Amino acid sequence: MLYRRLGSTELEVSVVGIGTWQFGGEWGRDYTQKEADAILDKGAELGINLIDTAECYGDHLSERLIGDYLSRRNREDWVVATKFGHRFHELFTRTDAFDAAGVIAQLDDSLAALRTEYIDLYQFHSGPDASFDNDALWTVLDKQVQAGKIRFLGTSIGSNDNVHQTERSKEVGSRAIQVVYNRLDRKPEERVFPICQEQNLGVLARVPLASGYLSGKYKPGTVFGGNDVRHRHNAEDTLQKLKEVERIGQEEVPDGVDMASWALAWCLKHPAVTTVIPGCKDPEQVESNARAVELVT
Ligand SMILES: NC(=O)c1ccc[n+]([C@@H]2O[C@H](COP(=O)([O-])OP(=O)(O)OC[C@H]3O[C@@H](n4cnc5c(N)ncnc54)[C@H](OP(=O)(O)O)[C@@H]3O)[C@@H](O)[C@H]2O)c1
Repeated sequence: MLYRRLGSTELEVSVVGIGTWQFGGEWGRDYTQKEADAILDKGAELGINLIDTAECYGDHLSERLIGDYLSRRNREDWVVATKFGHRFHELFTRTDAFDAAGVIAQLDDSLAALRTEYIDLYQFHSGPDASFDNDALWTVLDKQVQAGKIRFLGTSIGSNDNVHQTERSKEVGSRAIQVVYNRLDRKPEERVFPICQEQNLGVLARVPLASGYLSGKYKPGTVFGGNDVRHRHNAEDTLQKLKEVERIGQEEVPDGVDMASWALAWCLKHPAVTTVIPGCKDPEQVESNARAVELVT
């Protein structure tokens, strides 16, 4: 594994992390504790130390699976990134909750679910600019940093061209940007990445496999089941993406190279990107994702 400093934080993160939206149930299946353990143990075995989760992957459900795991392992071995700003109601239904008091309540719920005294990276979860620009929110969060409940603050931008929140992050004490970036969606290269580089903001590239399409295993015309979040994607967009993936597979991916590993390494080659956080369904996916490092050097 390779490790990099996340912007100006003191966090040394593996360049491949583990995204855990899938633990919340919106990808068409529920996870047992044993299955979550197997995924995280495989990550640890391969040197992965970064977990990304959120308050609304289920009602703190993903955090609870991670917390149960951490309670039986060495907490210090992991960099735990989670998020704030939404209240989960049921699958695919959340409401915004970025008010300062609400966020403090969410923080306590996340700490309890994660069974930890501190969160390494606490990220503004893809909220609107008006919520981001609420100084009272950042003042209250800074107090939580002073109290030791949060080590560092981050911003997960919703649109991957959100210059406003990227530019203002340093000002509000946020030191990392989480953003959609992958071989099918290079938008951040234009405006967001240059700001991150200029301001030494760490970058977590999310959805680095374009929701799994860049694994190369889905052919154009694939239809996803009703409980899989991909069922909600626009069918025409998905068709075009899968056609493009087919072309990329033929023209850009070297023979014999696993396309998922290649797609992650592709993200990591951009100098602004610190780490990628692919969602992993099982230990085999963790293994193939970790192999991206062999293609980076
Ligand atoms: N607003 C936000 O802050 C936000 C939004 C979205 C995501 N995120 C974070 O980013 C993480 C990653 O995004 P994502 O999960 O949406 O998309 P992704 O990482 O692009 O795709 C994940 C999916 O790709 C497939 N996959 C993963 N590794 C594979 C491998 N080695 N070989 C073949 N298939 C593989 C799996 O699905 P199948 O096997 O079923 O195809 C997996 O569920 C999330 O887990 C979450 O932590 C944050």
